[in-house]
Amino acid sequence: MIIDLRSDTVTKPSTGMMDAMMSAKVGDDVFREDPTTNELEARIAQMFGKSQALFFPSGTMANQTALKLHTNPGDQVICDKYAHIYNYESGGASFNSGISCKLINGENGMFTADQVINAINPDDYYYSETSLVEIENTTNKGGGACWDFKEILKIRAVCDERQLGFHLDGARLWNALVVKDETAAQYGKVFDTISVCLSKGLGCPIGSLLVGDSEIMKKAIRIRKVLGGNMRQVGYLAAAGLYALDHNIERLAEDHQKAKEIESVLKKLSFIKRVEPVETNIVIFELDKSYSDEVFLQKLEKKGVKIISMGENKLRMVTHLNYTHTMHDFLLDTLKSI
Ligand SMILES: Cc1ncc(COP(=O)(O)O)c(C=O)c1O
Repeated sequence: MIIDLRSDTVTKPSTGMMDAMMSAKVGDDVFREDPTTNELEARIAQMFGKSQALFFPSGTMANQTALKLHTNPGDQVICDKYAHIYNYESGGASFNSGISCKLINGENGMFTADQVINAINPDDYYYSETSLVEIENTTNKGGGACWDFKEILKIRAVCDERQLGFHLDGARLWNALVVKDETAAQYGKVFDTISVCLSKGLGCPIGSLLVGDSEIMKKAIRIRKVLGGNMRQVGYLAAAGLYALDHNIERLAEDHQKAKEIESVLKKLSFIKRVEPVETNIVIFELDKSYSDEVFLQKLEKKGVKIISMGENKLRMVTHLNYTHTMHDFLLDTLKSI
């Protein structure tokens, strides 16, 4: 038995999802004639209370499009030092948009409105112009942490006052909505643009969407084209997304519960220095200096358990819909016996 906890992106489509994909009605989305893609985009837009959503092949492309929409070359985006757009999008912010990131030293990938105020550049031609604030919910490198919505509202007020765009990387927003009992609509009211992902916790093979109001989204389709993201009979993939919205959101609570149980076992192990507080499906923990992450990874690998290193002797496990109860029991026993 292989237990793959490297990411929640390792899931394979279920039979139900495959059936939905195989029976999708499709057309050429370049002509905007793919009925299933149109349905998915309309449904996501409605969930967030925005006028438009656009289907993307990846979260990276959706985020990169958002950065381009909100900025001009030379501008600066404020984000956390752990932000995916800064760490894991291959330098795309500078490559695609010619912008730099002003990093905030936050807590588990999250920061305060006061920190945003301090990070805004003075209105002086020596500085790059701050034009955008970007946050991630849940935070990936921050261990799946969820933002306090009240702080998000405070940051919105700063953005309004200083005329800054506000983008949410909501690759795992679904997890936050389930844990915090929040709604997509409340996020739609606060952000100018939001990217959401179908291929992480929701189990689709591919797909993200960018949501926003019509003026900004009119430009988004052009940028998606420039980035090579035009797709044709993509309704086969959109059908997986529609299936996931119906079947795979509420069940995320099960992934969260399993992650919590892993956290409590890890906390009891003498060679583990710290476990980041677990709120959703990501467990990040740090080994004692006496134990190298390579040795730990090898020990787990021998038992058929795959997890990843985050550097600095930190490791990450992510629970997901293909991680069964049997696998979970086996993992907990394995950890206790190491
Ligand atoms: C927080 C976050 N944003 C964006 C992405 C990018 O998504 P994709 O891999 O679909 O490009 C990821 C991927 O893991 C992510 O964790």
